[in-house]
Amino acid sequence: MRILLLNGPNLGRLGSRKPEIYGHTTLAEVVDRATKHAQQRGSELVAFQSNHEGVLIDRLEQLDFDAVVINPGALGHTSYALRDAIEGIDRPTVEVHISDVHQREEFRTVLVLEDVVIGQVIGHGVDGYLEGIDLLLAREP
Ligand code: DQA
Repeated sequence: MRILLLNGPNLGRLGSRKPEIYGHTTLAEVVDRATKHAQQRGSELVAFQSNHEGVLIDRLEQLDFDAVVINPGALGHTSYALRDAIEGIDRPTVEVHISDVHQREEFRTVLVLEDVVIGQVIGHGVDGYLEGIDLLLAREP
């Protein structure tokens, strides 16, 4: 399985942005861990991050992958465009949020991707990305 690991706005600053909430692990370290995790399970991982909604949708439209793990950042609370893109590509997608968005500000409790993803991993720190990969692989026949 070829998995696209997609990260949205501000996640490029993982490790230095609000470490008390998101931890000290950088995105490069997350990608490295996720790549090894996927490889150990016979899968391939490609990673992409953008701060721009349309660029994320353009990446999804490339369709050079079998499944997606996405941390949409704040777009997960607002972006019907990203929601529609995920619905339209017909690839199993897991949504990850590092922090527990249900225990923070009210606006973070709205998750507009939730009806188009096959699962969500919320509040498990950066390990959530690996759990997202495992959820996708558990569906393989
Ligand atoms: C986040 C939660 C979002 O509310 C926030 O805007 C982020 C990160 C998380 O991983 O916990 O950028 O998606």
